[in-house]
Amino acid sequence: MKILFYTPQNDAATWLHDFNRALPEAELREWQAGDTAPADFAIVWRPPREMLAERAGLRAIFNLGAGVDAILALERAHPGTLPRSAQLVRLEDSGMAPQMAEYVTHAVLRYLRRFDEYESLQAQRRWKVLDPHPRDTFTVGVLGLGVLGTHVARALVPFGMPVRGYSRSARQIDGVTTFAGEAQFEAFLSGVKVLVNLLPHTPDTHDVLNRRTFSKLARGAYLINVARGAHLVEQDLLEALADGQIAAATLDVFREEPLPVDHLFWQEPRITITPHSSAQTLREESVAQVAQKIAALMRGEAVSGVVDIARGY
Ligand code: NAP
Ligand code: GLV
Repeated sequence: MKILFYTPQNDAATWLHDFNRALPEAELREWQAGDTAPADFAIVWRPPREMLAERAGLRAIFNLGAGVDAILALERAHPGTLPRSAQLVRLEDSGMAPQMAEYVTHAVLRYLRRFDEYESLQAQRRWKVLDPHPRDTFTVGVLGLGVLGTHVARALVPFGMPVRGYSRSARQIDGVTTFAGEAQFEAFLSGVKVLVNLLPHTPDTHDVLNRRTFSKLARGAYLINVARGAHLVEQDLLEALADGQIAAATLDVFREEPLPVDHLFWQEPRITITPHSSAQTLREESVAQVAQKIAALMRGEAVSGVVDIARGY
């Protein structure tokens, strides 16, 4: 079995070492420009188009992340990039769900307990007790109830604030009020105090965090975007912050990454920035998951995590 590997980061040797250990019978090689030799599987993160195009015989492409937007953008720009023979398989949790739950819970509790405001009071050396936010109206709405959104929504329930979730198809999660489909989008948003975005980036969800969406939330709402930068209309967020519809935002993902040094977000004290680090791909868990799926495919079994290319996630 021949496996091609590609990552734009400079840690390919470590990944190849670990995959070699997990799949000792496989012939693994790092893809280099011009390599068109046959392969059965590809394991990739943000691959160039030339790596995948016209690779008849490829059985599966494993994406070393949960989001497949970068690969599907290649396919949309150049239809036929993904070989018809190949399934596209994404990471499912592989250690990302607990990280995402920690990140989002931390951000929600920071706003609930007004730590963001205490941080700015501390900077002014001011000793002032703030009234707590009432928990019963501190409604958290999670956009996307997939692997990560469901884990995050469940993690928030024990804190006692109302938790809502929104997905394409109807979902049931204990302790979470769920909404599905465009027809229920406004009802989901209405009165939400903290909006958490965990949608995949697809043509349907592009720009979903916009002025109209913000206007349906409770006044002085908070935004936590941990999905993709292209979900957010940046100017609409700055305007919503200026007029008080949004009180503060925690952003982990941006239209351009790294966030340019002269970007206005760096100067906005109500925006908390992290460098796309809310849920990192963990090598050990990811290697184990991909190796187990390759072994299953070799036995002729079906695997989970196969992307529906037409749907976009
Ligand atoms: P997932 O399991 O595929 O879940 C996607 C969820 O979004 C599903 O509930 C799906 O609805 C819903 N959805 C998709 N399109 C929708 C639409 N048009 N309207 C309403 N709901 C829609 O994905 P995941 O593993 O949870 O990951 C979610 C995203 O998180 C990834 O795509 C990635 O962009 C992002 N991510 C970010 C980081 C980071 O470090 N910042 C790390 C990992 C992942 P159904 O349930 O009805 O299908
Ligand atoms: C990271 O952003 C991922 O999609 O896994």
